[in-house]
Amino acid sequence: MDSHDSIAGLRRALEGRGRIALVPTMGNLHDGHIALMCQARAHGDTVVASIFVNRLQFRPGEDFDKYPRTFAADCARLAAAGVDHLFAPSEAEMYPTPQAYHVEPPAEQAGILDGEFRPGHFRGVATVVLKLFNIVRPQAALFGKKDYQQLMVIRNMVRDLALPIDIVAGETVRAADGLALSSRNGYLSEAERTEAPRLFAVIGAVAAQLRGGNRDFSKLEADADAELRAHGWFPDYVAVRKTLDLQLPAAHESRLVVLAAARLRGTRLIDNLEV
Ligand code: PAJ
Repeated sequence: MDSHDSIAGLRRALEGRGRIALVPTMGNLHDGHIALMCQARAHGDTVVASIFVNRLQFRPGEDFDKYPRTFAADCARLAAAGVDHLFAPSEAEMYPTPQAYHVEPPAEQAGILDGEFRPGHFRGVATVVLKLFNIVRPQAALFGKKDYQQLMVIRNMVRDLALPIDIVAGETVRAADGLALSSRNGYLSEAERTEAPRLFAVIGAVAAQLRGGNRDFSKLEADADAELRAHGWFPDYVAVRKTLDLQLPAAHESRLVVLAAARLRGTRLIDNLEV
């Protein structure tokens, strides 16, 4: 695997490389990331991974400074997964001057759910992803359903700006007990790690009710919220939404997704499940 920290060097290396598939990450790679790398092979002749902890998508007081950075281990995992090129720029390379132009996703997509609790987050994500697209110029890019709203925002950005890139979604990879793999799981104490699978169990129970025909969305959300609180969680939301645009569903809607974000002590976890 070739590793690049400069935009110019990466571009030189990618000249004439055929169809490129990009997997953007913030590093501290786990099996969820690696599954995307393996899937990428089917979508490009050349697979490019990026590692960049993007300050723009963190709010003051969030975990930008303590976000786990495990570069050497990440490189080994990427090489073993058959990734061809790694782009791992410094902040000075990505943002040599403060980023002054931004992608502003519409509030109805980026101001709801996670965007309500992390104002500006999706603006930061969309801006860095567009910049990575311009640097790498991939024909395909892969994103995990674990970050369902992020996937929707990026799909819509690509469509709205007519970017010639296929966005491919990867299924959420979970631990044996159901917990969605996440770099933030490393923040959990042993006791919290034992409790953490409840988030998936609770949204799973909501999804089972929906599959069984229960359409009382508000009660399902409220019961799930109460169940989490009873076990020491502080939920930001548990929400039943339409898969397509994450807006409120009508009672007859069949394509539904249950999304949740909740804090367990100092760690904020998110998860979702399509019905
Ligand atoms: P990061 O959290 O590192 O995730 C990189 C990619 O891996 C995202 O597409 C994410 O959805 C996917 N992913 C994370 N956990 C997963 C899991 N358990 N199963 C499947 N896929 C999973 O998401 C970001 O970085 C950033 O916002 C980024 C898009 C790189 C922009 O900075």
